[in-house]
Amino acid sequence: MTSAQTPPSQTRFPAGRLAFPHRDLIAIGALQTHEILFLLEEAEQWVTFNRQPAKHAEALAGLTIINAFFENSTRTLLSFEIAGKRLGADVVNMHAAQSSVKKGETLIDTAMTLNAMRADAIVIRHGSSGAVGLIAGKVDCPVLNAGDGQHEHPTQGLLDALALRHALRARGQASSDGMLVGLKVVICGDILHSRVARSNILCLQALGASVRLCAPPALMPQGVEAMGVEVFHHFDAALAGADVVMMLRLQNERMDGQFIPSPREYRHLYGLTRQRLALATSDAIIMHPGPMNRGVEIDSDVADMPERSIITQQVEMGVAIRMACLDVLTRRARGIPGWASGDLA
Ligand code: NCD
Repeated sequence: MTSAQTPPSQTRFPAGRLAFPHRDLIAIGALQTHEILFLLEEAEQWVTFNRQPAKHAEALAGLTIINAFFENSTRTLLSFEIAGKRLGADVVNMHAAQSSVKKGETLIDTAMTLNAMRADAIVIRHGSSGAVGLIAGKVDCPVLNAGDGQHEHPTQGLLDALALRHALRARGQASSDGMLVGLKVVICGDILHSRVARSNILCLQALGASVRLCAPPALMPQGVEAMGVEVFHHFDAALAGADVVMMLRLQNERMDGQFIPSPREYRHLYGLTRQRLALATSDAIIMHPGPMNRGVEIDSDVADMPERSIITQQVEMGVAIRMACLDVLTRRARGIPGWASGDLA
């Protein structure tokens, strides 16, 4: 069999090793490039599946998934809920606002409670960096990080890569190995408070893209150059020759003090307007993880640009990525051949 005929998801793992040797999905930083490619390739079947009128699989039938969200969320919670249900699992959502967390229960006690209910996977969003990893160390089932503080949001990094691959494929510009080598991506906005930025930097770089960050000095993490990114404070300079422009929201709820003079001033310097977009390549792709603040970090006529904006595709790819992650991480417990043994990290 030539390599062209080999199924892509089996080409890159060292022989005898599990394709995905991790029990949990906490951070893109813990994944190797072939593991990222594997998850992206696994998600492709779910993209196709989700475009059919009937969208119910039985892969996770009988399994219980708990979505424990200690922070507000619309698209990530819905996306994980839809993903679990489409795979046939029983999905239960726990909102911290209505839980015993408000009564003073510690994170560890909440984790032990979820564990005692014998969930088969737990999806967690938490406001503190490291909290999801901490819970993962206390429970017996796979844990998926749906965003922990300013640390990581791994499924967002993966879904953004998948959305980019689809957009490039539709233009006939995709590379056959699934990589994004040579792509110039600008991430602009509140980098300091953004777990999306961090997961995207790691995921995009692993796939061979180069990343430029742009933010006012107060919203740029100190020493971020060490991640191998180019740092800009002038948006026009960052945009020159960019293939992809990813805009981020000002995360006011995470700001302790005043970081920008005013939203109006911010838009003037860092907002993506049609005029500014003209500085990027002529067909540059526009992305935003949502929720958007239209008229602040991005103008409506840019966010809604046909052919250029892939913001709604990002949401679509999110469900497929989460289905792939839930499926892969529960394979061991389900005794799927080839997955029942092997070392897990
Ligand atoms: C992001 C998050 O929660 O980190 N949203 C998301 O998951 N799509 C970004 C944000 O809140 O601005």
